Amino acid sequence: MTYLRNCWYLVGWVKELDEVGWFARTIAEVPLLIMRTVEGGVSALLDRCPHRFAPLSCGKITDGQITCGYHAITFAADGRCLDNPHGAAISALTVPSFAAAVGHTGIWVWIGEQALADPATIPPLDLITRTPASAGLHGYEQIAANYQLCTDNILDLSHADSLHPTSLGGGATTRAQFTVKEHPDRIELNWFAPSDVAPPALDALLPEPNNPADVYLRAIWYAPSVMAVTLGGYPAGHRERGNPETWGIHVMTPSDAGKTHYFYWAGRNCLVEDADLTAMVAVMLQAAFAGEDKPMLEAQQSRVGSTDFNALGPALLRTDEGSVRVRRRLSKLIAAEAACAEREPA
Ligand code: FES
Ligand SMILES: [Fe+2]
Repeated sequence: MTYLRNCWYLVGWVKELDEVGWFARTIAEVPLLIMRTVEGGVSALLDRCPHRFAPLSCGKITDGQITCGYHAITFAADGRCLDNPHGAAISALTVPSFAAAVGHTGIWVWIGEQALADPATIPPLDLITRTPASAGLHGYEQIAANYQLCTDNILDLSHADSLHPTSLGGGATTRAQFTVKEHPDRIELNWFAPSDVAPPALDALLPEPNNPADVYLRAIWYAPSVMAVTLGGYPAGHRERGNPETWGIHVMTPSDAGKTHYFYWAGRNCLVEDADLTAMVAVMLQAAFAGEDKPMLEAQQSRVGSTDFNALGPALLRTDEGSVRVRRRLSKLIAAEAACAEREPA
């Protein structure tokens, strides 16, 4: 499968690295070893020893160094060979490294042309660091489905009405007015359901629960598969009575054609000191994402198989407009990158 390469991929949350010191993860079919440097930074190396190609993650990793488990050659976190017990530390014994940056509590890696890696182009997810830690939660799931199928799932939020009726859905999104707008750097989807029934997760935060509310949803997509979702509402026609919002960041990082790393974060603008509420939301979201989305996506993938999704001729509904436009935009970006690589062979 061809992936967009000149972009930042989220490979993990910083807290995961802080807990274990290093981890191995395959991104767009590139096996990576993510670890802390001795200076406290983050490095991303190809998880493959340059000698006999053993995974470095099978070796010993301590104090910012890796000793390969096969013949005990030691490498620094930047890929340089530090010690070769069999001879000289020749330059051929260098592990390829990739630009890695910390941003929005995540670790981002650039697998494309390294000279183009600019941390300023990491998608703008500042919401994560602006939200008090007591109101934010991080999650991660592995899904045995293609990352574009997983991305479609977030861009078609009407699925929540039928798949998550007791938490994130209920019917308002299906009934909502729906618009899609393309921008040079993003695609924005908006739903607005006036005087409707708020999804249970939002209704509980409204100043007047169990009453008609004006409900809005917004999903903003950034290439290749990063999405910021806002679900908000207020008593019908009366925003001044209180306007709670819940926020979700959904990042679908491809592992390979049939596997996706699903990273998510959730926060809100109300009851931000209530850590018990955040813990309850974490349980609810895990039940929805791992217990409802994941099985559906994996079952869908089993029906699609290895056939190109569009080649199967999916029947298109109004609610699919966002995912159709995003797939089209991503295809263009990937094609442009391939054309550029052809013009400038390495
Ligand atoms: S394969 Fe790593 S040292 Fe030989
Ligand atoms: Fe869902």
